[in-house]
Amino acid sequence: MSSVINRLGIVGTGVMGAGIAQLAAQAGINVALFDRRDGAASAAVDGLRATFNKLVTKDKVSKASAEAALSHLSVVDTLSALSDCDMVIEAIVEDLGVKKALFADLEAIVSKQCILATNTSSLSVTAIAANLNHPERMAGFHFFNPVPLMKVIEVIGGISTDEAVVDTLLTLAERFGHTGVRAQDTPGFIVNHAGRAYSTEGLKILEERVAEPHDIDRILREEAGFRMGPLELFDLTGLDVSHPAMESIFTQFYHDPRYRPSYISRQMLQGKRLGRKTNIGFYRYNNGQKIDAPAPQPVPTVSDLPPFWVGCADSALHAHVSSLLKSLGASVEQGDSPSAQALCLLLPFGDDAVSASVHYGTDPERTLCLDGLMGLQRHRTLMMTPVTREDMRDAAHALLARDGAGVTVIRDSVGFVSQRVLAAVVNLACDIAQREIASPTDIDKAVRLGLNYPQGPLEWGDALGPKRLLCILERIYTLTGDPRYRPSPWLRRRATLGVSLLHTSPRIG
Ligand code: NAI
Repeated sequence: MSSVINRLGIVGTGVMGAGIAQLAAQAGINVALFDRRDGAASAAVDGLRATFNKLVTKDKVSKASAEAALSHLSVVDTLSALSDCDMVIEAIVEDLGVKKALFADLEAIVSKQCILATNTSSLSVTAIAANLNHPERMAGFHFFNPVPLMKVIEVIGGISTDEAVVDTLLTLAERFGHTGVRAQDTPGFIVNHAGRAYSTEGLKILEERVAEPHDIDRILREEAGFRMGPLELFDLTGLDVSHPAMESIFTQFYHDPRYRPSYISRQMLQGKRLGRKTNIGFYRYNNGQKIDAPAPQPVPTVSDLPPFWVGCADSALHAHVSSLLKSLGASVEQGDSPSAQALCLLLPFGDDAVSASVHYGTDPERTLCLDGLMGLQRHRTLMMTPVTREDMRDAAHALLARDGAGVTVIRDSVGFVSQRVLAAVVNLACDIAQREIASPTDIDKAVRLGLNYPQGPLEWGDALGPKRLLCILERIYTLTGDPRYRPSPWLRRRATLGVSLLHTSPRIG
């Protein structure tokens, strides 16, 4: 099998094929482009010429290297013209039958050494390779859109793929200036699998009417540090893409509740509220710009604050919150139980406000909970019981906003917003590690680069504390009875032993 790629064939020269051609040409590889639609491959080369001109104007690429890259591109009119390629990658329509037929045709044309690769994002590499005479030469080489900017490529070996082919593609990814990660041929591979936690938990929180879409997005942006909230991200991607992707992963994992999609996105898809492309989704748009976006909750004006009593099992966090409240001007009670006037501020992990109130024996009308998972610097989430008094809510909101931090009040919810989303994200990454779909370090690299999370989920889990995340999941699972929240054995074992979530067991034998 070819171990060095000097001539690459690309079949399908749409958005993805053209992006792959750009990377390969910049890496000095000769690229032959083929598309079954007349003129499409030449149009792709014209588009790349315009791209390179722009890059030269912006001083991102020198004129000489742009010209060199363009000289590596050629258009071919027939598949047979790919016969001397060391590798052919397809980026055609996402249809199993069409892809299988293409590879059958290609196998009759190319040499025995030629590697065949698919850019599929949702089909099984094993299924695509099933009818080949030499399935060992075929692998997934999965790019993300836009190809030059998304710096990760998943390299997927099917059940029969030769490991040497996977190694060659990992080296090729590096030549492209990207990070190659090795993934098993499983639904969604790494990135589209790991991403299910964020999207489906965001919808579940909305389904439970814990908060409005803009509040959920704000908490996850400002408090947890995600670049976009899950609902605004749906609007960007388009529910015509995201909802079927959620359903497909759910079906492929035989309806494991971890991946359960939502009736909300299905109904919005049916009603053509797809997001930016239809000017309406979770938000409204005009020419791609958000319009009429609801403002964050206003800070109430409160003249007299009640005394605060803090309930928190973690003594360091208890001390931190007490000193924060004092620094903001509150009087904080020191007793083991609250006075009859006190606002009871509890810091539960995994519990909802009612169960926390029962646990601490506080009056639910005077109880609010504060999410202490993400630190309390930039943004603070307050949770009410169903009977929390408005004066108590306003007092807590006004006090916690005094230093300019954002404050969002939510309704009663197991695990607030950040806790349940972060626990779901880390838990799913742990499942992916447990199944050896990828190594822990590759999972973190793929998610950071492919989903733009501020940290890889496993290192993030280590920073937040595996024991704490396990406790959150156990409480949510107990309170809801929903197996969606069952803790991953990978997380449970490492949390119990006090070792890193990146820790891999030794091989047997
Ligand atoms: P596209 O629609 O922009 O381009 C597909 C091109 O393939 C078209 O020019 C079409 O004429 C050509 N084509 C279709 N069937 C063909 C055939 N049998 N032989 C030769 N050419 C054929 O699609 P896009 O977005 O570039 O996606 C292509 C593939 O890449 C799909 O399999 C998709 O799942 C995968 N992918 C797409 C991503 C995206 O964000 N668009 C991300 C990752 C993977």
